[in-house]
Amino acid sequence: MTLPEPKQKHIQRIEMRDIVKRFPGVVANNKVNLQINAGEVHALLGENGAGKSTLMRQLYGLYRPDEGQILVNDKPQVFHSPADAILAGIGMIHQHFMLVPTLSVAENVALGLQSSHEPLLDLQNVSQRIEKLSQAYGLKVEPDAYIWQLSVGEQQRVEIIKALYRGAGIIILDEPTAVLTPQEVNDLFVTLKRMTSEGHGLVFISHKLHEVMAISDQVTVLRDGQSMGTRPAKGVTRDEMVKMMVGREVKPLAPQPVQTGEVCLQISGLRAAGDRETEALRGVDLNVHAGEILGVAGVSGNGQRELAQCLAGLRKVTGGRILLNGQDITQASLQERMAAGQSYIPEERMRDGAIREFSVQENLFLRDHAASAFTNGIFLHFARMAARTREVIQQYSIKAPSAETPIKNLSGGNIQKLIMARELSRQPKALIAAQPTRGVDIGATEYIHQRLLEQRANGTAILLISEDLDEIRTLSDRVAVMYEGQMMGILSRDEASVETIGLMMAGVAAT
Ligand SMILES: Nc1ncnc2c1ncn2[C@@H]1O[C@H](COP(=O)(O)OP(=O)(O)OP(=O)(O)O)[C@@H](O)[C@H]1O
Ligand SMILES: [Mg+2]
Repeated sequence: MTLPEPKQKHIQRIEMRDIVKRFPGVVANNKVNLQINAGEVHALLGENGAGKSTLMRQLYGLYRPDEGQILVNDKPQVFHSPADAILAGIGMIHQHFMLVPTLSVAENVALGLQSSHEPLLDLQNVSQRIEKLSQAYGLKVEPDAYIWQLSVGEQQRVEIIKALYRGAGIIILDEPTAVLTPQEVNDLFVTLKRMTSEGHGLVFISHKLHEVMAISDQVTVLRDGQSMGTRPAKGVTRDEMVKMMVGREVKPLAPQPVQTGEVCLQISGLRAAGDRETEALRGVDLNVHAGEILGVAGVSGNGQRELAQCLAGLRKVTGGRILLNGQDITQASLQERMAAGQSYIPEERMRDGAIREFSVQENLFLRDHAASAFTNGIFLHFARMAARTREVIQQYSIKAPSAETPIKNLSGGNIQKLIMARELSRQPKALIAAQPTRGVDIGATEYIHQRLLEQRANGTAILLISEDLDEIRTLSDRVAVMYEGQMMGILSRDEASVETIGLMMAGVAAT
């Protein structure tokens, strides 16, 4: 027995009309209109919390609109669940993936499919079709690999294959590039182009405007739950998009050089194992001075993650030393490092930095609950904590109905901002910041960059690990390029051109 051959469901047009969606304390979508056409990429723009994911979750049947209509090929449709939306030909790649780590690629793709009354899934058959799709759309995956073995980029390709496998005609991609390296973004765009030429209609959500300009046909901007209108992408400039989203202009920063101090963070000969048997760090040497931002660039998977984890005390160091102002912290725990004056902004903020069921305020004080300003004898000082929470919400323009809201109800970018706020509000001697603005909107990126520069002016030694070359080049006093677990070299601000960094990222030594 084999599964029925999946066919792409052809959708000429989807219309969302006057969509209203309310949550306690917020109107997430307020009379939004959106039309998605076959063969086009439709970009959905807006600040964190503007209502992009909410709008798309209704199209995918995860939420029901409070008001308004969804029409597929001019026929009104009601989706009670994603199963209904999938049946109608809609697919969605989520901001946070939903694969089962302990199952293989083929098993994940087959999961939930009607398996033609077979007790055992015909996995070989599934694998063959995965390979066909993978070739047709340029999506490299191994059907037999387990999800836990895959990089995020690979997992995303599995999600896309899964949607294609189910015959999706319209595919929603919610911030697909936020987790990808520049090279992976290029590959994804090749795939997206193939999809539109095959007649798929795509919704593309991103905070990176150069990507939106490179790939989109139409652009719709949401602000505070309302649509600011739809325009052909060709006719809109970057500055116009920013103004429609934010309501004001946001220009890239131009930091001034500052006097750097003594070496604060001293890393020598650092070695550590990786997750996949290989050695991830093969002797890393770095010195970060007080009042300096040292940027670490590199294609993801070259040891940056492991370096951050070693510095945070979350991964075992197998060789070498880490000194913080002369104190050996190589084997110290995260708590001991914090006591010694180090702060850490983890890359996986959802997993390592926050507790989803806890409120905004609880997450803000997750690590500081013993700080003296907020304690009164053995009791926590709730009034002061509440005041501080209000201040942070305002400073970082965090969109949350209240300080008591569990953070699982916040938009993706707003959770990021909250953790940033917590870690930046300390006055650390050394700060390890991994991908600090990933998934964060333009206005908040500007704010976070300003805060990092402020910390630098206050004499903090900052190690900035980022895959965003613009971010690295804007902020860093020096740039270290990582390749296969070692530093290829360190560039001064003036030497750090995109071309030079790019070559070193590919393993070509600077001459
Ligand atoms: N399940 C929920 N319960 C309560 N409020 C919610 C829920 N989901 C979203 N919200 C609220 O609705 C608003 C819109 O959120 P949404 O996730 O759609 O934003 P977004 O535009 O996708 O933002 P981001 O760029 O940060 O991902 C936010 O104020 C958010 O807090
Ligand atoms: Mg979102």
